Amino acid sequence: MLATVGDRGYLADMRTQSAKSGMIVLGIETSCDETAAAVVRADRAVLGEALFSQLSEHRPYGGVVPEIAARAHLVHLDDMIRRAMQQAGLGFADLDGVAATGGPGLIGGVIVGVMTAKAIALAHDLPFLAVNHLEGHALTARLTDDASFPYLLLLVSGGHCQLLAVEGIGRYRRLGTTIDDAVGEAFDKTAKMLGLGYPGGPAVEKAADRGDPARFPLPRPMVGRPGCDFSFSGLKTAVRRHIERLPPGPIDDRTLADMAASFQVAVGDILADRCLNAMERFRAGWGGATLVVAGGVAANRHLRQRLGEAAASAGMELIAPPLRLCTDNAAMVAWAGIERLRLGLSDALDFAPRPRWPLDPEAGAARAQSLAMVDGVA
Ligand code: KG4
Ligand code: ZN
Repeated sequence: MLATVGDRGYLADMRTQSAKSGMIVLGIETSCDETAAAVVRADRAVLGEALFSQLSEHRPYGGVVPEIAARAHLVHLDDMIRRAMQQAGLGFADLDGVAATGGPGLIGGVIVGVMTAKAIALAHDLPFLAVNHLEGHALTARLTDDASFPYLLLLVSGGHCQLLAVEGIGRYRRLGTTIDDAVGEAFDKTAKMLGLGYPGGPAVEKAADRGDPARFPLPRPMVGRPGCDFSFSGLKTAVRRHIERLPPGPIDDRTLADMAASFQVAVGDILADRCLNAMERFRAGWGGATLVVAGGVAANRHLRQRLGEAAASAGMELIAPPLRLCTDNAAMVAWAGIERLRLGLSDALDFAPRPRWPLDPEAGAARAQSLAMVDGVA
């Protein structure tokens, strides 16, 4: 049953109940091409989940079209929320808060999610939580595996490739980042060059399963160098050069699989090498022994295995969330909301969606400085 604005007495009763059994938060995710809602309880139970993937809407264009994404979120979000709430067997009055991704992401979609969450919060007198999408990924290991702080995080998604020391909620220190492409972007571009279409990551992984990873010698940029930064553009260019040297016409199945496998294994070597340096720094500086991998690319089985081996060789444990919680989802948003609510944090209803929203303070400061220079203020 869905509670209505008039159910104030019922709301008060249910609040008392949920205070006993643990906080319950509705999470909303609309920052890219998944329209998702989930209901999560503070004891880490996911009570309800619904996700609409907009793949077929964007596939004809070979990538996510922001305007189409925003409209699709608008069309499908109410239904996803209704389904997640029904699966949980709860009404809005049973909630302790409403969380939505407040950025970073495609602004049209973020606005849809944030406005919806604010409306529910206002109508039901609930706290509103604007969640940083990257923090959602970063804290997933606490939802799935109860990971304790501090841990080292490898965040690998369509727009990000970073190594961060996670010290607590809202407390991130960056150890390394990509100097060019994000790793998910490299998967997506490689898929496009191979004619594997969109979305690229899962398609490359599937093709790589039946390929020979030793057939094409590909570079491993940054490997063996000190530091924890990444680079993928040289790898992407090398894939393109190999493809250009192939006989004209469609790429045969064997070559396609071998190229995908050679690319994937190179990415694995790069991630493992950078993580080894980061683990050394992390152990010395923070004393933690856990490496967490998060973000869409963390769904890749080969990379999970490779990172597991790297972690073991450094005497660290790897936590890799289940595949469906690596790619974009609303359970991670609800969970990040719970984490903030437990600390007494919530956001005002005039929160403005943020297309860019770095996790670490250094990145924010660096960007503010470069913007000031562009504006002629500095
Ligand atoms: O976290 P995510 O779902 O969305 C962003 O916040 O960016 O990550 C999407 C990225 C895409 O680049 C996609 O190709 C990649 O994650 N990805 C994968 C796999 N599944 C998704 N990359 C490699 N292997 C996969 N199985
Ligand atoms: Zn994401």
